[in-house]
Amino acid sequence: MTDERTQVVIIGAGPAGLLLSHLLHLAGITSVVLEDRDRTHIEQRVRAGVLEHGTTEILTQTGVADRLHREGLVHEGIELRFDGAGHRIPMTELTGRHITVYGQQEVVKDLLARRLADGGDVRFEVAQVQVHDVGTAEPSVTYLSEGVRHRVVGDVVAGCDGFHGVSRAAAGDTLRHLHRTYPFAWLGVLVHAEPRTRELIYAAHENGFALYSMRSPEVTRLYLQVGADERVDSWPQDRIWAELAVRFSLDGEPWDPGRGEIFDIAITPMRSFVTEPMQRGRLLLAGDAAHIVPPTGAKGMNLAVHDALLMSRAIEHWYRTGEETLVNSYTADALARVWRAQHFSWWMTSMLHRFPGDDLFQHRLQTAQLANVTASRAYATALAENYVG
Ligand code: FAD
Ligand code: DHB
Repeated sequence: MTDERTQVVIIGAGPAGLLLSHLLHLAGITSVVLEDRDRTHIEQRVRAGVLEHGTTEILTQTGVADRLHREGLVHEGIELRFDGAGHRIPMTELTGRHITVYGQQEVVKDLLARRLADGGDVRFEVAQVQVHDVGTAEPSVTYLSEGVRHRVVGDVVAGCDGFHGVSRAAAGDTLRHLHRTYPFAWLGVLVHAEPRTRELIYAAHENGFALYSMRSPEVTRLYLQVGADERVDSWPQDRIWAELAVRFSLDGEPWDPGRGEIFDIAITPMRSFVTEPMQRGRLLLAGDAAHIVPPTGAKGMNLAVHDALLMSRAIEHWYRTGEETLVNSYTADALARVWRAQHFSWWMTSMLHRFPGDDLFQHRLQTAQLANVTASRAYATALAENYVG
């Protein structure tokens, strides 16, 4: 077994782990990032697309947003479509802030390129990652690479390995898990097609929810609410296009979102999940390792970025002053935002989706809620403030 030392051992090279490593580097703190997949996989993995105003600011201030500013699409409003009519929420007019549409894998590419250019230590295709001794001052992580077992000892271990990672379990049963699953999923497709509108459309329809988004002037991103147990096989392309056109209907007429070649298709389950606390001893958790939100509020990656920022500040403060105050308050500081995002994501999900067993009464309630949100400046501002972040 090889043995080495760093200051912070980071598990996972998603947005949380890579940004944390970058921020620590800017503060003069060393880290090793351990990722179980290969580089191509993490750079191609299709996921989130909406960056909050504050997320773009963090990436800009820390020098990793040049391409984001060149290629990202700035959006100043979104549309809520229901009862066959579209209603614009003018986010920038209401809040002075905007969102940027830029694929998560592009953020990952930019962060990784910068880490490598700065001499960062990111190790891919590590197997059998295990966390040890988090209750001591010398926590460590062991892993297997090319048949050899390695051990990296640090002052802190950062669990940034997503919902299916190993670090949350390493914190043991002192953590409490709060969760909720939703009785539906999202089918998401990427399409080679020019966007038909400039802004995202969140559509509530009696057949279920649909979302119109985009990635570039040549690629659209579309989502459909589907059953929790449905498989991609039961959604041939004709069925997807027909269902999208119906759910995006305007004035009683189907609205076609612009057809093209579907080059990526996947189904994502919908769940809410929070770990409390987000730390144990010298192990701190960030991003999806600690919490999951349903995607309707577009919050997951933004929360991961915010956790990484809080964690880097806490660790930097500790090294600089010897005081553990910010490390000890990491959970409370992070959870305040996490629960706000949980509430917003749950609210958007409940307002826009069709739940099994919903009757006409429920449908009318949902419509009344949507009508309030689009007619009242106060409601619209509350939505916009939560959304732009
Ligand atoms: P991840 O991105 O999951 O990264 C974890 C990393 O750890 C991965 O690279 C993984 O390979 C690695 N790993 C896992 N296990 C191990 C192990 N044992 N050892 C070593 N490495 C390991 N969020 C938004 O903000 N806006 C959106 O618009 C949005 N839309 C979404 C749409 C969809 C369809 C989906 C699926 C998600 C969406 N999200 C959205 C959520 C967002 O993608 C996640 O919240 C985000 O990826 C969290 O980042 P992370 O770094 O915490 O975790
Ligand atoms: C996208 C994903 C979301 O979850 C959302 O709420 C808005 C947009 C997207 O992938 O573009």
